[in-house]
Amino acid sequence: MSDKIDIVKFESIKSRLQEAAQPYRELMSCYKCAMMEVETKFRVLDEELSLEYDRNPIESIKTRLKSHESIIDKLYTRNIQPIPENIESQIYDIAGVRVICTFPSDIYMLSKAFLGQDDVKLVEIKDYIKNPKPSGYRSLHLIVEVPIFLHDEKKFVKVEVQLRTMSMDWWASQEHKIKYKKNVSLSPEAENELRQCAEIAAELDLKMEKIAKNI
Ligand code: GTP
Ligand code: MG
Repeated sequence: MSDKIDIVKFESIKSRLQEAAQPYRELMSCYKCAMMEVETKFRVLDEELSLEYDRNPIESIKTRLKSHESIIDKLYTRNIQPIPENIESQIYDIAGVRVICTFPSDIYMLSKAFLGQDDVKLVEIKDYIKNPKPSGYRSLHLIVEVPIFLHDEKKFVKVEVQLRTMSMDWWASQEHKIKYKKNVSLSPEAENELRQCAEIAAELDLKMEKIAKNI
C-alpha cells in the first residue's frame, strides 16, 4: 500500500467492515470451505496420477485465507465499498491454494486435469511461466469458481490457485522477503540479478526434467 494513506478513509473502511459481523464471518467460512474443496481436488489428482506415473506430481500444497487486514488494504487501494457483496464480486484472492509441483510439465498436466472437472469454472488464467513477470516471477495463476454445498444452498466461490515448481517457489519466497510489497526500491542492478536468479532456476527445472525423462 502507498505511503500516503488517507487515514480517515482507511479507518472508515475498517469500522464498516467488522470482522465479527455475521455476514462477514459467513462469507469467510464459504471461502474456507471452497479452499478445502480445491485442496482435496488436487490431493485426489496427486493420488491417482502417482499410480499412473509411478511418482507424485505434487510435492506439497499450501492454503491461506487472506487476512482481515489485507482485505481492508485491498478495499482501500482499489476504492471498493466495504460490503460482503463487493468482496465476493471484486476481490478474487481471498482464498488461495498454492500447489508445488515436481516438474514444469506437471503444472500443465495438473491444471488441465483440474480445469477439466465439470464443477470447476475458470474465471481467469495468467501464465507467468510462458510470460514471466518483469521481476522474473514465474507461476501459473488460475482464478476458478467451485461449488460448495451448504445446508440449504449450492454456492459458487472464487479461489486463486497458484501452480509452481519447487524452484519457482524458492525464488518467489526469497524475492518476497527481499522486496515484494515492502515498498523497498532496489537498484536496477539488484533487480537484474534477481531476474537472472529466476532464469537460472527455470533452466535448472528444465534440465532436471530432461534428466528424469531420459532415465
Ligand atoms: P494482487 O492484487 O497483488 O493480488 O495482484 P494481481 O491481482 O495483479 O495478481 P497477480 O496474479 O499478478 O499476482 C498475485 C500474487 O502472485 C501475489 O499476491 C504474489 O503471491 C504473487 N506474485 C506476483 N508477482 C510476484 C513477484 O514479482 N514476486 C513474488 N515473490 N510474488 C509475486
Ligand atoms: Mg493477491
